[in-house]
Amino acid sequence: MPEPLTARAGTESGEPFYLAAGNEVALFEQCHARQLAVMLKGPTGCGKTRFIEHMAWRLQRPLITIACHDDLSASDLIGRFLIRHDGTVWQDGPLTRAVREGAICYLDEVVEARQDTVVVLHPLTDYRRMLPIDKTGETLEAAPGFQLVVSYNPGYQRMLKDLKPSTRQRFVALDFDFPPLQAEVAIVEREGGANHATAHALVTLGQRLRGLQDRGLAEVPSTRLLIAAARLIASGIPEREACRAAIVAPLSDEATLVGAMRDLVDASFI
Ligand SMILES: Nc1ncnc2c1ncn2[C@@H]1O[C@H](COP(=O)(O)OP(=O)(O)OP(=O)(O)O)[C@@H](O)[C@H]1O
Ligand SMILES: [Mg+2]
Repeated sequence: MPEPLTARAGTESGEPFYLAAGNEVALFEQCHARQLAVMLKGPTGCGKTRFIEHMAWRLQRPLITIACHDDLSASDLIGRFLIRHDGTVWQDGPLTRAVREGAICYLDEVVEARQDTVVVLHPLTDYRRMLPIDKTGETLEAAPGFQLVVSYNPGYQRMLKDLKPSTRQRFVALDFDFPPLQAEVAIVEREGGANHATAHALVTLGQRLRGLQDRGLAEVPSTRLLIAAARLIASGIPEREACRAAIVAPLSDEATLVGAMRDLVDASFI
């Protein structure tokens, strides 16, 4: 049966490009060596997923990614018995596979998962690194390279939905944010296929738009959106049009804010 929840990034592919902002690579390497679980905190589109893809490549570990949502159950993570014509067979879930294979297991947007799902992670984060599988009576010990990594976007305004302290305190947290200007220019240039001047103009625009947060813009443009605009421009779409479609429109429906953003776009690409 296909696994819609998971995606794998093979170690045999080339190095995923990641431009470090600080000491996060060395810090993560130490966490991996010391078998510490890690939480990546930061706004959408700032490089968390790319970072973990890069680290899995660097550490030569398989990467198993699980997108969390509020319907995700413990069985979705651990596994279930499947009924077939010739009887029932046990099928490992992605977390169990990662535990057996010694993979890095990345739970994206962990705060979206229900508490009763999140607690199955707890025994894996203490020194025993165990995964009890109630349905089969097995208790697995995590293979040496196994590491639990979760991502968490603290920016969302969801008062009721947050991680419990008992969960949070099981992780070393790495803070992510949008890169400084020159670094973001290099990323947009490379990932968006834009020339240096265009990448620079897009990042400068992005920084100005991020300034609109004080004026009520709830979602600010991520590096991902700037890259999308760069790609459109690189494929021949006029700059202003590309920025409106790839940056302004996704961020807001509110006429005043859209107007203010369009003005900034027009001022950036004359
Ligand atoms: N430091 C970086 N080095 C290289 N590429 C980066 C970096 N930061 C962002 N990017 C680029 O931005 C894109 C979006 O980043 P990514 O998907 O990792 O964001 P994210 O933090 O996982 O977002 P989300 O919370 O929405 O999942 C990447 O595909 C990559 O092209
Ligand atoms: Mg991500």
